[in-house]
Amino acid sequence: MPRHPEKGTEMSHFLDIHTTPQDELRAMIDQARAMKNARQGLPKGTPDAEQPLAGRMIALIFEKPSTRTRISFDVGARQMGGQTMVLSGKDMQLGHGESISDTARVLSRYVDLIMLRTFDEATLLEMAEHATVPVINGLTDASHPCQIMADIVTYEEHRGAPGGRKFVWSGDGNNVCTSWLHAAGQFGFDLTFTGPETLDPDAKAVEFARSRGSRVDIVRDPLVAAHGADAIVTDTWVSMHDPESARERRHNQLRPYQVNSRMMAEAKPDALFMHCLPAHRNEEATSEVMDGPQSVIFDESENRLHAQKAILRWCLGV
Ligand code: CP
Repeated sequence: MPRHPEKGTEMSHFLDIHTTPQDELRAMIDQARAMKNARQGLPKGTPDAEQPLAGRMIALIFEKPSTRTRISFDVGARQMGGQTMVLSGKDMQLGHGESISDTARVLSRYVDLIMLRTFDEATLLEMAEHATVPVINGLTDASHPCQIMADIVTYEEHRGAPGGRKFVWSGDGNNVCTSWLHAAGQFGFDLTFTGPETLDPDAKAVEFARSRGSRVDIVRDPLVAAHGADAIVTDTWVSMHDPESARERRHNQLRPYQVNSRMMAEAKPDALFMHCLPAHRNEEATSEVMDGPQSVIFDESENRLHAQKAILRWCLGV
């Protein structure tokens, strides 16, 4: 683990699930669940009993819109005694030609941790390379690891350990799907992708999951894919990084992969329905499924808070 050059304490970047040691991911999930349990029944603004982020300043930088990531990081850091600043990339010199490496070095003189949501994964990696404080991936076009850490917390609190279970991803093999594949490899579950060939998941992520012994199947028929699933997961048909011109074609391609009661009926009776949100209701999933008894979508949103608190602590070694 690298040392913080100024403070001499340990620090780690949280850039992706497949690049984070398996036992440390496990420890973060356990800590997230313990911290969540310790807060049961408390008003949201109540400080945690422990204040591990006291005296720490956290920069939350967004080059894309966000509701969950922005608010859950902000609230979570404050509950642990930290201070936060939410910044829009376009309002910084970063959005007007200042280099990423200079921005990283400057920010590192002011703040103790940088959370970045950006487009190109290369921007995140360059920020991490030049920052002397930890950097967290708050989503890039390539992956969304914080979301899937929250989703593992969610699955575990409803159904226990995900190891050996069958997760089905229906729709676009996008950045969220990539992080699910990384998690399959790290947490030992199988993943079946169902969607059109043109929107297949990232080949490297598939290879990673398989290299760790997870079974990854690609099945074009959504009802066949859903058979015997422990969880069915989907996401919007058009992601933030997709061109608006792709919308109509995407809808036509992905309509057969809508998660509806027919698809859920193919899964196990106790299968969960998962979606990271925001959703386009009655497009990628019907409202009947989203609001139905198998849906855990709002628990996933809540667990962003708890999972990211554990990630913040891990990054700072506190
Ligand atoms: N799921 C997710 O990352 O939500 P936001 O885009 O609202 O942050």
